[in-house]
Amino acid sequence: MLTINSTIISGAGAIPALAPLLAGKSRLLLVTDGNIARLEAARAIRALLEADNRSVSVIERVPPEPTHHDVHALLADINDTAFDLVVGVGGGSVLDVAKLLSVLCHPASPGLDALLAGEKPTARLASLLIPASAGTGSEATPNAILAIPEQSTKIGIISPVLLPDYVALLPELTTSMPPHIASSTGIDALCHLIECFTATVANPVSDNAALIGLRKLVNNIETACAEPHNLAAKLEMLWASYYGGVAIAHAGTHLVHALSYPLGGKYHLPHGVANAILLAPCMRVVRPDAVEKFAQVWDLVPG
Ligand SMILES: [Fe+2]
Repeated sequence: MLTINSTIISGAGAIPALAPLLAGKSRLLLVTDGNIARLEAARAIRALLEADNRSVSVIERVPPEPTHHDVHALLADINDTAFDLVVGVGGGSVLDVAKLLSVLCHPASPGLDALLAGEKPTARLASLLIPASAGTGSEATPNAILAIPEQSTKIGIISPVLLPDYVALLPELTTSMPPHIASSTGIDALCHLIECFTATVANPVSDNAALIGLRKLVNNIETACAEPHNLAAKLEMLWASYYGGVAIAHAGTHLVHALSYPLGGKYHLPHGVANAILLAPCMRVVRPDAVEKFAQVWDLVPG
C-alpha cells in the first residue's frame, strides 16, 4: 500500500500561503513552460520564489508530451544541480519532468537511462508541484510518463519516490485554459477516476478516492469549461484531478490508458483527446464485469 504524504495548500487567493514552504531554501529550480510562465498567477508564484534573495534557476521550455531526449537535453543545460527545492508549475508534462528532475538532480540519482531500464530511484530533492491544468493528477501519482519516439510509444517511470513533498491547488492558474483544453484534460481526469474505480485491483482506498473525485468532476466539468473564471468550479476540478491521481496511486488505469499511450505516441494526439476517443468503446467492454460500479457512477450524475 502506498502512502501519499504530500502537504497540500489549496484555494483561491492561496499563493501567499506558499511562503512558509520556502523557509530555509535559497536555491530553487523552477520547471514550467513558456505559455504558463506568462500567466499572472504564474508570475506571482515566481515573484514569491525569487523573494528574499533566493536564487531561482528556470526551465521554461518543457515541450508537450516530452521525450527522453528532451529530459536529457534539459538536464545537460543545468550547470549546478544542488537545489534546495524543485518547483513544477504546469500541466502533466511539466509536472512529470519536474518529478524526474527532482530525482535526476539528486547526488544518488541512477541516471535517466537506468530509470528507463527499470532501476528504481532511492532519493530526490525536495519538491513542490502546482498543476496548471485539471486532468493528469500527476501531483498525486508516483508516475512520470515519457515518450519514446524510437518505439512510437510512451513508458512510465514509476516509484513512490517521485511523490512530492508539497502540492498547491491554485484555481487562478487554470482560468486561461481554452474550453477545448479544459474539456480534454477534464476527460483525462474522468478516465483516471472511472478506470481506477472499475479496475480489477480496485480496493476501498482507491474506490473512496475515485468516488470523491467523480462526484466533484461530474458536478463541475461543464461549469469549469463554460465559465473559465469560476474559481469555485475550477478548484473543484483541480481536486477531482488530484483524486484521480490518488486513485491511480492506489489502483491503476487499464483499458483506455493502455490503448491511448500507443495511440498518442504514434499519432501525436493530445493525451486527453486520445482518451476521449477511447473512453466509451472501452467502457462498453468493461461494463458487463462492473455493472454495480457503473450504477454507482450514474447515481452521481446530476439531473
Ligand atoms: Fe491520463
